[in-house]
Amino acid sequence: MQRNSDAPTIVKIEKIIDETPTVRTLVFSDEVLSNVLPGQFAMVWIPGINELPMSVMISQEKGKAAFTVRKHGIASTELYSLKTGEQIGVRGPYGNSFTIKQGKILLVGGGTGLVPLIRLLTFLKKTDDVTLLIGSKTKNEVFFEKMANQILEHNKHQVIIATEDGSYGKSGLVTHIMENLLSETKFDAVYTCGPEKMMHKVVQLASSKNIHVQASIERMMKCGMGICGSCCFGEVLACRDGTVFDGKYLLTNKEFGYTHRNKAGMLEDY
Ligand SMILES: Cc1cc2nc3c(=O)[nH]c(=O)nc-3n(C[C@H](O)[C@H](O)[C@H](O)COP(=O)(O)OP(=O)(O)OC[C@H]3O[C@@H](n4cnc5c(N)ncnc54)[C@H](O)[C@@H]3O)c2cc1C
Ligand code: FES
Repeated sequence: MQRNSDAPTIVKIEKIIDETPTVRTLVFSDEVLSNVLPGQFAMVWIPGINELPMSVMISQEKGKAAFTVRKHGIASTELYSLKTGEQIGVRGPYGNSFTIKQGKILLVGGGTGLVPLIRLLTFLKKTDDVTLLIGSKTKNEVFFEKMANQILEHNKHQVIIATEDGSYGKSGLVTHIMENLLSETKFDAVYTCGPEKMMHKVVQLASSKNIHVQASIERMMKCGMGICGSCCFGEVLACRDGTVFDGKYLLTNKEFGYTHRNKAGMLEDY
């Protein structure tokens, strides 16, 4: 669903959910954003500060949408610190979405990269056998586990947590856990969103087994709609041609997993 205008719509924060000590979900009413496809994002204007791209989170209530934000630099910390009743501007949705396959589905996410994957869960069929692999540095930073289990309660499913310090769930990197899963199970599709080094490994692992794999990538975004060029990713624009790309394409893009452009447009290593 698209808006008629790319001008920001002003919405009021109605509810704030603390997910971890550094991550919050901000809920607001917006019919358009409540209905976006999994993988689509919005541009979020924090008045007087900046505008940031944010994946659109699901909300349990009809007509409401949400953003799940990690406090990081100036703009995300301002967004994180907003109180109920305060206003932001939203425009979009922008970008493409995941191609939804059926059968045995594996989703691999980390941090706020889980946001589009949680929306994707709500689009899967009840007959799908779903495995969600959540990676985190430590127990304190794990979120969305309960929500994922609730969404999948009528599916055959498992939600596996992997923490790097071993403080919760399985110990180690999600990609190690994924490697073990791939040796036991033939998945029909793999979807990933999170740190790009993680996604690069996920795409390599799935591709080595000829499994359909898609990743949602992040780049610096200013316009969000294919005009400014700040999100260029090799020969394509992340905001207009993505943010979701097939693994087959990603493995031909030399930037994937290695470099990205900073705010000045200069290439930097990951
Ligand atoms: C499609 C997309 C969806 C996103 N979804 C979420 C989400 O659901 N939750 C969430 O917390 N964050 C999300 N982000 C990241 C978010 O847009 C910000 O990059 C992040 O919050 C840091 O912004 P900052 O200004 O606070 O940090 P800064 O200190 O200004 O920047 C720190 C680093 O963040 C990155 N960054 C900053 N501004 C942008 C920008 N406009 N576009 C891309 N990268 C940028 C750069 O690598 C920069 O070096 C998403 C990014 C994209 C591209
Ligand atoms: S953000 Fe401007 S072209 Fe993609």
